[in-house]
Amino acid sequence: MSSRTIITMPGDGIGQIVLPEAIRVLDAAGFEAEYLHADIGWEFWCTEGNALPDRTIDLLAEHRVGLFGAITSKPKNEATAELDPSLQDKGYVYYSPIVGLRQRFDLDISIRPCRSFTGNPLNFIRQSVDGGFEEPEVDVVVFRQNTEGLYAGVEWTDPPANVMDALRSHPKFAAFADVPGPDLAVSTRIFSRAACRRIMEEAFLYAEKHGYRSVTVCEKPNVIRETSGMLEHEAREVAANHPDIALWSTNIDAQTMWLTKNPENYGVIVAGNMFGDIISDAFAGLVGGLGFAASSNIGKDVAVFEPTHGSAPKYFELDPPIVNPVAMILSATMMLDHIGENGLAETIRKAVSSVVVDGDVRTYDMSKLSGGQGVVDQGAAPTTVLTDAIIAALDR
Ligand code: NAI
Ligand code: MG
Repeated sequence: MSSRTIITMPGDGIGQIVLPEAIRVLDAAGFEAEYLHADIGWEFWCTEGNALPDRTIDLLAEHRVGLFGAITSKPKNEATAELDPSLQDKGYVYYSPIVGLRQRFDLDISIRPCRSFTGNPLNFIRQSVDGGFEEPEVDVVVFRQNTEGLYAGVEWTDPPANVMDALRSHPKFAAFADVPGPDLAVSTRIFSRAACRRIMEEAFLYAEKHGYRSVTVCEKPNVIRETSGMLEHEAREVAANHPDIALWSTNIDAQTMWLTKNPENYGVIVAGNMFGDIISDAFAGLVGGLGFAASSNIGKDVAVFEPTHGSAPKYFELDPPIVNPVAMILSATMMLDHIGENGLAETIRKAVSSVVVDGDVRTYDMSKLSGGQGVVDQGAAPTTVLTDAIIAALDR
C-alpha cells in the first residue's frame, strides 16, 4: 500500500475531538499516511483576520485530499467584535472557511450517503397498517450541487441601477416595479450547464458502480423553470447513456413528504445547492442524524471529507468528550473510497456496523439522552470509548 499525504483540518470545537478519533481508526485499520495539519477556523479569523489562511490553501492545492472537522461561524457583527484589536477597522470581513474552500477549489459535488445501520435505535420506524411497526431500510445517497444556486452569494438588498435595469427588462418584474430599492432583496439562483452536466454524470456513474437502480432529480421545474429545468434537461441527456438506471423526477416539497412515506424506494438523489442541503439533512434524520451524517466535497483536483455536523461548541469543553465520532469516521471511509482504498473503507464500515448492532457501546445521542456532562453517569459511552469499540471490531 502506498503512503499518502492527507491534510487534516480539525477546525473548531468538536472538530478537534472527532478528527483525531477518525485518524485513530484509520491507523488501526492499517491505512498508511502522513497527516499534515492545516490551520482553519475561528482562531485564525480572530488573530489573522482570515479563517482560511493561504498556507492552508497551498497545502491542499499540493496534496489534494483533506479531512475536515468543523468550524464555528458567527454573524457578521459578532465576528468583527471578536477580531484582534490590532485588526479592527482594517476592512476584514468574516467568511465561512468551509464555504470558502468549496468555492476556492471548485468542490462542486457534495456526496452525502444516508444509510441506516441495522440496530441503530435512531433509525426511522413507521406504523404499518396492522398497527405494528416497520423499519424501512434507507439507502440513499444525495448528490448536492455544492457551489452554485442560492448559495453562490450573488445577491443584493437595494440592487444597483444596472441590476435594476436588467430586472425591469423581465415582464414578471412588473409586480415589484414600485418597491423602493432599500425594501427590495434579491438572491439569485444561478445554475451553469457544465455544473449540471457534471453532477448528473457523476451521479449516474455512482449509481452504476454501487448498484443503485434509480437516480432521482429532486427540484421544482414546474415553477423554477430555468434552473431546475436545466438540471432536468441534463439529467435526461445523461440518463440516455445509462439505460439500466431509471431516471425519476420529484419536486422538493413532495419529496419531503415521501421521505417518511417510502424512503426505501429511493437510491441516488440529485439536487441543486439549497434543495440538496435540505433533502440531505432530511434523509440523515432517518438514519441517526448528525452523529451519523458523513459527506464529501469533490472537485476535479481536490476533495475534502467532513461530517455534516458543526462545531457543537457547548460540548467541546466536556471532559470526557461525549460526542459521536461516527459521522467523522464514516467521512474518513469516503476519503478511503475516493483514493481507491475501498477494501479498508469497507472494513471500517463493517466495524461501525457491528458496534451499532451489538448496542453495548453507545454515545449519548444513540442512547436518546440530552447532551451534557451527566450522560456518562447515565450509561452513555464517551467519544473515545465508542472509537475503541470500533477499533476492536476491525478484526472481527
Ligand atoms: P452543530 O451541528 O454544531 O450542533 C447541533 C447539535 O447537534 C448539537 O448541539 C448536538 O446536539 C448535535 N450534534 C452535532 N454533532 C454531534 C455529534 N458528533 N454527536 C452527537 N451530537 C451531535 O450545529 P449548530 O449548533 O447549529 O452550530 C454550531 C456551530 O457550528 C456554529 O458556529 C455553526 O456556524 C457551525 N457549523 C459548522 C458547520 C461546518 O463546519 N461544516 C456545519 C454546521 C454548523
Ligand atoms: Mg446543512
